[in-house]
Amino acid sequence: MPRITVTVDGIRYEEEVEPRLLLVHLLRDRLGRTGTPIGCDTSNCGACTVLLDGQSVKSCAVLAVQADGCDVLTVEGLASDGRWHPMQTAFHEEHALQCGYCTPGMIMAALDLLRENPTPSDEAIRTGLEGNLCRCTGYCNIVRAVHRGAQAMNGDGVSEEREVTA
Ligand code: FES
Ligand code: FES
Repeated sequence: MPRITVTVDGIRYEEEVEPRLLLVHLLRDRLGRTGTPIGCDTSNCGACTVLLDGQSVKSCAVLAVQADGCDVLTVEGLASDGRWHPMQTAFHEEHALQCGYCTPGMIMAALDLLRENPTPSDEAIRTGLEGNLCRCTGYCNIVRAVHRGAQAMNGDGVSEEREVTA
């Protein structure tokens, strides 16, 4: 079986993987990153979105062997020093989730969007997140959360830091 080296949330792993193994299954079943959910079997929902070398990908649409030599960032790698990432805090404060199933993917896709456009308009946010589906909250609060997270990340300080709780 192919042997790959992949860094996930800052930790380097060497794994033997079947060529058909999907990245999302490597993350969840082998590396314990169950914070990245699977929401569909058609690569439609975006719940499984992670950053692969900084770019958002649907990890159910990427083979694990394609991540060989890459850096993967999942939602579980965002908090640091016991504090949520500002985008996580923004989703909490804008009530941008109900069941939360879509939230990891929304947050990771939002971060990729802000990398290219740090101050997106409503329309740019909606377009940037069009590959991510939410079945319960609706999108208004999600758009507000991305604005709030962007402001916090840009140093406008509207989003208080929150401690991570188990
Ligand atoms: Fe990957 Fe739905 S689980 S797009
Ligand atoms: Fe339930 Fe988005 S909060 S799917």
